[in-house]
Amino acid sequence: MDFSIKTFDAKNTIANTKSGVIAVGVFEDKKLSSAAKALDLHGAVTAAVKSGDISGKPGSTLMLRSLDGISAERVLLVGLGKQGALSTKDYGSAMAAIARSFAHLGASEGIIVLPTDSVTERDTAWAIQHAVLALREGLYRSDTLKSKKDPAPAGVKKIAFAVDKAHITAAKAAVVQAVALANGIDLTKELGNLPANFCTPTHLAKTAREMARDFKLGIEILDRKQMQALKMGSFLSVSAGSDEPPKFIVLKHMGGKAKDAPTVLVGKGITFDTGGISLKPGAAMDEMKYDMCGAASVLGTMRAIAEMKLKLNVIGVVATCENMPSGKATKPGDIVTSMSGQTIEVLNTDAEGRLILCDALTYVERFKPAVVVDIATLTGACIIALGSHNSGLFTRSDAAHDQLANELLAAGKASGDTAWRMPIEEAYNEQLKSNFADVANIGTPGAGSVVAACFLERFTRKYTWAHLDIAGTAWKGGAAKGATGRPVPLLTDFLLARAKQAA
Ligand code: BES
Ligand code: MN
Ligand code: ZN
Repeated sequence: MDFSIKTFDAKNTIANTKSGVIAVGVFEDKKLSSAAKALDLHGAVTAAVKSGDISGKPGSTLMLRSLDGISAERVLLVGLGKQGALSTKDYGSAMAAIARSFAHLGASEGIIVLPTDSVTERDTAWAIQHAVLALREGLYRSDTLKSKKDPAPAGVKKIAFAVDKAHITAAKAAVVQAVALANGIDLTKELGNLPANFCTPTHLAKTAREMARDFKLGIEILDRKQMQALKMGSFLSVSAGSDEPPKFIVLKHMGGKAKDAPTVLVGKGITFDTGGISLKPGAAMDEMKYDMCGAASVLGTMRAIAEMKLKLNVIGVVATCENMPSGKATKPGDIVTSMSGQTIEVLNTDAEGRLILCDALTYVERFKPAVVVDIATLTGACIIALGSHNSGLFTRSDAAHDQLANELLAAGKASGDTAWRMPIEEAYNEQLKSNFADVANIGTPGAGSVVAACFLERFTRKYTWAHLDIAGTAWKGGAAKGATGRPVPLLTDFLLARAKQAA
């Protein structure tokens, strides 16, 4: 898909511009956007809206053909809801509706007139980001392993966004950024959907190596021996039952000033979570191939910001292995020593994410990070608490952490990839007491996602840290089974905002 920017003026009007299709907005109260008005030469648009053929609700569309005096072959009316400020969600559904409509059209190029009635320069970038994401979302196919590929939709392949002349520079930059973000999201989806017999820790390492080569990132990949030397006994205890070698991946994008402390992302990369000896029940166990979506989101975000040439120092860390039962597997009750020196009683081998993350969180101390954010499909309990709408966000509650939490919440809102803050408090730590080790890897019943976050918190006391539990948001189950690419939009917006601050 090819995106460009276009403007209208007195000579090249919206009415006399030749195109396969022009998409313009209409509102719920039967009012027209200024672009729709400009196409309403003989009242055909007004008549269509008055007739009730389109509700104007976000996501509603109506295709009109061969309008008198209009050079474009088709005009697509798109509902924008009530006139006034558009929410990211409503705007997203409008753009998704355009994507659906364009995908089946007998035209190869089209124009989308962005709803510029009353938008600022910042809004132009926002509007372009969400339009590109919706159009690219419609394009993604998970057919890598099908012998016959899903037919690519015919439809509109070249899309121009019409914007105000004053916003043209911002709009062009926004397209570059949005495409980079879409590429990162696609990588995250692709890795998530790839099954565990293809997407092994070795495959994630290979993907990271290719990315480092293509985007000139620093890279280091530690193998089991090196992890043993670092005394990552907790991480390695999860890998013990598997024949697939574990990998510890460090990717560096040093786009900021040399002296600036890096922002560090840490992803959970369990390429398959059987539960280990605490074996999971069989139903929907295939979905545990998605237990590396935190890792995939770190790789996708690193790809996005590298393509954007973001002026910020960012280090992406991926801890990846399989969680399998076998004669060599860790058993419930086993006690392991983490890299931090804390001993852990593994009461349940299915609470493995925290066991690999705690060593990764200790490892990243060496970077003297500005902040650390870990991303993990950590707990089923987070799905019970928040469902699939919000990722769980956990931080301590002092001023520095409140600020980090607010940055992440704001990035979630701006990108439409939202998170909801959950508590971390000393009281929950009580639940993790062990009779035999410093800490247990599971707690007494209740608040499972909070207790998991409290476990991680014990390993993050040397820096400012946030944890995102993406168990409910990283993929969809059921008929629409597939990775969502979340929370790459949230993380990328978060890093974009930090780069702006650092500039
Ligand atoms: N990867 C799972 C969490 C998960 C389960 C994510 C289902 C998405 C859907 C994690 O490793 C796990 O198994 N967690 C356990 C923790 C429990 C043993 C304390 C869980 O949530 O049941
Ligand atoms: Mn598990
Ligand atoms: Zn898991």
